[in-house]
Amino acid sequence: MNIIKFDSEAKLNEAAARIITGIVQTNPSAVLGLATGGTPVGIYKQLVHDYNEGLVSFKKVTTFNLDEYVGLAPDHHQSYSYYMRENLFNHVDVDASRTNIPSGLASDLGEECSRYDQLIQAAGRIDIQLLGLGHNGHIGFNEPEEELSSGTHVVDLAEETKQANARFFSEGEQVPSQAITMGVGTILKAKTLLLVVKGKDKAEIVKRALTGPITTDVPASLLQTHPQLTVLVDQAAGSLLP
Ligand code: F6R
Repeated sequence: MNIIKFDSEAKLNEAAARIITGIVQTNPSAVLGLATGGTPVGIYKQLVHDYNEGLVSFKKVTTFNLDEYVGLAPDHHQSYSYYMRENLFNHVDVDASRTNIPSGLASDLGEECSRYDQLIQAAGRIDIQLLGLGHNGHIGFNEPEEELSSGTHVVDLAEETKQANARFFSEGEQVPSQAITMGVGTILKAKTLLLVVKGKDKAEIVKRALTGPITTDVPASLLQTHPQLTVLVDQAAGSLLP
């Protein structure tokens, strides 16, 4: 595990983007695993900047997002599909037909999960999976449970997760209570994992995840078992880390 601390958010975002662009420069057809939420917004801005500077092209990449809310259409302004278009896809040369996000509107969610797993399998291995960290240690939307699912599945979002994500929703709008998420098994199969954690409110959980026991109570602790894990933290999030 490689943990790198940054004294500014801009430097952290640049470093994360450099890792991703490095992979795409080496392999223009790379398979990228992407995340949403507050953490990657600055990283995506940096990727758009790098693209505009002519440093990288996403023309041939394939992307798989970690998760999507159940019940939100792709054009709903809080769907992760909308988020990805707004923050990245609309601003770079990625081929929309090679971007993949589970459908939260599928009539048969179980079938949608299998379809998503098959697509990931058919694409081969995910070259790099970008991850944020939930306050309760979730990765993707794999919430703390006695048992964790390996493949893509439907989850009931933890109350804490709904509260944390309510900040993105307008007043009166309900945070969906379910999501489709890639499973921990799929995440761990990625060639490289890039965990990015920002803010004082994540200091305790990132310490537990990276230095505590490996337990399904803290799904991110399973990342300790991955041979190619890079963790980028800002000073605040990394304040309790060695
Ligand atoms: C998002 C995702 C989640 C978030 C996590 C942190 O696709 O899978 O695991 O990474 O909830 O969210 P933020 O970055 O908003 O603190």
